Amino acid sequence: MKAWRADLLDFTAAPAWGDTVAAGAVRYRPDHWLVVDDAGRIAAVQPEAPAEGIERVEDHRGQLLLPGFIDTHVHSPQIGVIASYGTALLDWLNDYTFPAERAWADPEIAARGSEHFLDALLAHGTTTAAVFPTVHKIAADALLTAAAARGMALVAGKVLMDRHAPDGLRDDDVATAERDCIDLIARWHNRGRNRYAVTVRFAPTSTPEQLAMAGALCRSDASLYMQTHVAENRDEVRWVGQLFPHARSYLDVYASAGLLHPRSILAHGIWLDDDDRAALRDAGAQVAFCPSSNLFLGSGLFDWPAMIAAGAAVSVASDVGGGTSLAMQRTLADAYKVQALAGHRLTAWTALHAATRGAAEALQLGHEIGTLEPGRVADFAIWRWAANPVDAERQRLARDLHEKLFAWITLADDRHLVGTWVAGQQRFAAAGTPASDRNDNERSAA
Ligand code: GUN
Ligand code: ZN
Repeated sequence: MKAWRADLLDFTAAPAWGDTVAAGAVRYRPDHWLVVDDAGRIAAVQPEAPAEGIERVEDHRGQLLLPGFIDTHVHSPQIGVIASYGTALLDWLNDYTFPAERAWADPEIAARGSEHFLDALLAHGTTTAAVFPTVHKIAADALLTAAAARGMALVAGKVLMDRHAPDGLRDDDVATAERDCIDLIARWHNRGRNRYAVTVRFAPTSTPEQLAMAGALCRSDASLYMQTHVAENRDEVRWVGQLFPHARSYLDVYASAGLLHPRSILAHGIWLDDDDRAALRDAGAQVAFCPSSNLFLGSGLFDWPAMIAAGAAVSVASDVGGGTSLAMQRTLADAYKVQALAGHRLTAWTALHAATRGAAEALQLGHEIGTLEPGRVADFAIWRWAANPVDAERQRLARDLHEKLFAWITLADDRHLVGTWVAGQQRFAAAGTPASDRNDNERSAA
């Protein structure tokens, strides 16, 4: 058993929209102990030091311990295209993103890139993500291999595209793509902590036949995830209307193919209507709101309250490389700004919940991650409240917990991270902090 002493914060329920108090939903336990068993699960959270059976104690008094962040939509091969100038979605894909993704046909590049990507997530306090690699089977394999090596709970699958993409980025045919998926599902789905997602890039890059195959895969096993993009950009929505003239809406293309279900994650959802939102609710599917991407690519302002009114689930995601940071604080701060532009106010509670417990529940993984409850896997990160004179002063002046957390979300990023633990094992240590058990694996292997 190991124990960490810090200020613990998590959620027991979804905070109500606009409620800055959120009594009964926010669980703040300052100066408490998180006790983790040898299997990497949370054994207890308590106000006093554990009496016995603890082989190591880490004292992080005055620092914030949160469940590991969950990024529900991000692209592993796009780290290198972050911050690419001057385009909206469709040109951005053609000019920057597709050329970068083509390189991942090389197994060496896919392996090294996947490791670099996951280590970057961990260096931002993110312990679980739903990830798009590339169309190449080898790239999905490399990503899931690297996730297994780090003990991370990842949701991912080979990207499906068989049209409107350049040479080297298209599936040969529907049958080959289906075989690749079936092989990868057998190898990775529910193996260790990995889960497979049928990954349709977006409607324009799949033929109706490929979409039907993806829907049949989902029907064959209800435990599979599905991830895609929907209604991100107005030119894209218009193009989908031309490609699928019989569909009622962009979302209806996916609904008709059998791709909407409780494990479906649809990124963006900016240009949806009320019927679409009702369809998402009825299917139990979620939208991954990607605010930094939506601002950077000029895609539009996501209507979060409309989703709440419809009873449909929302998580928050970086969408790197359309998004401009892997830091979930920056993502949440941008979410606040997008909602403010649309005349709404996003509380720190709704924001943090959406990146932890809310995302875990939307992914149907609430039994495993997202909270600091006994029995959950010990995926967590420890943060400094402040890392420079400006945010130190702001924290000093904060009058209540919501003000503290709101300022922290708005001002903090990966520079505030002390360390990241996955199943109780340290997988990232900030420079200058003791990585006391970073080498557990090496030690036990020696
Ligand atoms: N739509 C289709 N592919 C992509 C992608 O890679 N990023 C974003 N933001 N939107 C997409
Ligand atoms: Zn995306």
